[in-house]
Amino acid sequence: MSQRIKIKALLESTTTDIDVTVKGWVRTFRNNQFIALNDGSTNNNIQVVVDFENANPALLKRLTTGAAISVFGRLVASLGKGQTVEVKAHTIEILGDSDPEKYPLQPKKHSLEFLREIAHLRFRTNTFGAIFRVRNSLAYAVHQFFQEKGFVYLHTPIITSSDAEGAGETFHVTNFDLLNIPKTDTGEADYKQDFFGRATNLTVSGQLEGELGAMALSDIYTFGPTFRAENSNTTRHLAEFWMIEPEMAFCDLVDNMDTAEALLKYVIAYALDKNKDDIEFLTQRLLEEEKQKPQQERSEMSLTEKLQFCLDNDFERLTYTEAIEILKESTPNKKKKFQYPVEGWGTDLQSEHERYLVEKYFKKPVILTDYPKEIKAFYMRQNDDGKTVRAMDILFPGIGEIVGGSQREERLDKLEQRMDEMNIPKEELWWYLDTRRFGACEHAGFGLGFERLVLFVTGMGNIRDVIPFPRFPKNAEF
Ligand code: 4AD
Ligand code: MG
Repeated sequence: MSQRIKIKALLESTTTDIDVTVKGWVRTFRNNQFIALNDGSTNNNIQVVVDFENANPALLKRLTTGAAISVFGRLVASLGKGQTVEVKAHTIEILGDSDPEKYPLQPKKHSLEFLREIAHLRFRTNTFGAIFRVRNSLAYAVHQFFQEKGFVYLHTPIITSSDAEGAGETFHVTNFDLLNIPKTDTGEADYKQDFFGRATNLTVSGQLEGELGAMALSDIYTFGPTFRAENSNTTRHLAEFWMIEPEMAFCDLVDNMDTAEALLKYVIAYALDKNKDDIEFLTQRLLEEEKQKPQQERSEMSLTEKLQFCLDNDFERLTYTEAIEILKESTPNKKKKFQYPVEGWGTDLQSEHERYLVEKYFKKPVILTDYPKEIKAFYMRQNDDGKTVRAMDILFPGIGEIVGGSQREERLDKLEQRMDEMNIPKEELWWYLDTRRFGACEHAGFGLGFERLVLFVTGMGNIRDVIPFPRFPKNAEF
């Protein structure tokens, strides 16, 4: 028997009239004759034609949706619509039955909410097959982008004792028996007796360790899971998400923005090229979904057009201060349409404000810089005005913030002063401060939320649908 060929390769085959072995899961079996078979290598199914008159009826009965089968047969040119080749089966072997009475995935449209509950099976749908192939391409492209530029992929720790963002949203890591926690004389948990001999947590960001790497290797990037115990039940937040964090020595905020914009364009272009069928499928899916919405709420561009538009246009760059002026004067603000009115300088931007700037005002991706220091982390480089820091956030249509980054404060005195003001314990970050003592230099970096990127490229509406097994408040199933 010939070796198994994946369906993607079969469908692209220019040779016909050869014997092939194909394996996959039955999507549908109609007229006792046509099997639509899928193996996840592509969104498209191969049609397997069964010679039902000569087939064993018991076997035909077992060709149910979800069953795993192996087919040996002849690859022939197809006369049917929608495919160029099909397989005329000689023999069919059932590898794994699937009871049609019990199989949760029926050959019909299921809601995304329902599919989230059966996330272990949702990979077998067209939508999720496409999403996870696109996700894979984006991850590969991220590595390719940085590797081509000579960045070093650095593995920063998952378990740490620091809170890089200083937001207090960490998950504790402990080996204590929670019903019997050793206490100090003053009644606090005695972490000296814990596994690491100190309080530890899951990382919220690899940045601080990434900076240490950049202070020797010049350009590094991380790409790993990060964890935040923020109680945000939104379509944009996960408790466990993947982040890409480059850190570059001898680099200022402008270089940083240029790198981030180039990265986004590179990976989007890569997916558009590598995953044409998947993105075309997702584009159609979104069009269908948008038909449910009133006309004025539908997007002006299709998914493919939106992605292409992103590649063809420079991102708009402006300061936070300029953005506040625009928002203050905006129609929704004057008509009190914002849930959080924009009153003046200093307030944090809500996603409704970010989306107004991107979707209504500039109608393209936007990079905001120089935010008030009060709403940003301690490590950002302070501007001479004493009020703002060299921060940059990239805002995307339909997403809001997709990238957050900054030039870093490399001046020891300024950094220590800011840490004091913000009650960041300097003793615990002695190693971070050491890089400012020995050979400090201008440097910058950013964090790209990987799931927000996948959300944008797939046109999905909920971040829980672009990671295989989402973690969010009250959910850690699978
Ligand atoms: O803006 P954030 O918090 O920045 C940092 O963590 C910096 N240390 C990055 C750096 O400069 N190296 O997070 C960066 C990005 C956000 O822009 C967003 O895309 C994503 O991470 N992100 C989340 N994605 C999903 N769920 C969450 N709860 C997220 N929080 C942040
Ligand atoms: Mg941020």
